[in-house]
Amino acid sequence: MERLQKILAQAGVASRRKCEDLIKAGRVEVNGEVVSTLGAKVDPAADEIAVNGRPIRLEEKVYLLLHKPKGVIASVTDPKGRKVVTDYLPGVKQRVYPVGRLDYDTEGLLLLTNDGEFSQRLTHPKHEFPKTYHATVKGVPHGSLLDKLAAGVELEDGMTAPAAVEYVDIDPNGKQSLIEITIHEGRNRQVRRMFEAIHYPVVKLRRVRFGFLTLEGVPRTKYRHLTKQEVKELLDMAGRPKQKLGTDT
Ligand code: URA
Repeated sequence: MERLQKILAQAGVASRRKCEDLIKAGRVEVNGEVVSTLGAKVDPAADEIAVNGRPIRLEEKVYLLLHKPKGVIASVTDPKGRKVVTDYLPGVKQRVYPVGRLDYDTEGLLLLTNDGEFSQRLTHPKHEFPKTYHATVKGVPHGSLLDKLAAGVELEDGMTAPAAVEYVDIDPNGKQSLIEITIHEGRNRQVRRMFEAIHYPVVKLRRVRFGFLTLEGVPRTKYRHLTKQEVKELLDMAGRPKQKLGTDT
């Protein structure tokens, strides 16, 4: 048995808070009876649940890891008709949504799920989930600039939290460099803005790691299902107290 608002949120009706409001407003029925108290527990396998008189569909939960190519919107629809990530999920019938964001021009690891609770836990700022990027920049920023990125830089929306930053590859002619950066926040275009702040704009960005997940075995444009163990470990990790990150980690 599960709480009614949790089941509604998991079914993708709305956020858990909004589902609570729907229940209180008398918009939710269980087995034909209006249930307007929040404590109610239901059996999703046996009870018929309806919102506004419409039965809700309880989909099987899926958790996917997509190797997103660049030039694709990390969304399920695009008013401008551009390619969206769900175009790369043949055979997935469930309505899945990206977990957090990845820019149109950024490639790499993107999780998708129809489990709203999972998504919320992994993207909540409080959990500071580590995300690692490989940023290609023109030229070679001095080590002191990387230290600055690691310590935190001032952006329009405030200082960035400590990050781990290191060189991966430096062109001996100084034309470009590949830098690995691990951040624990998920602000809009954060990595690009951080490099802009040190005057080394990113020319190519790729997310290579999300927590302990990597792109290993998943070629560009392809996806795989997460294992049950991976889902469990991600949730455990999201619940764990934050780890300290510094320039020497
Ligand atoms: N930071 C960015 O700048 N872009 C992304 O897509 C992700 C992180």
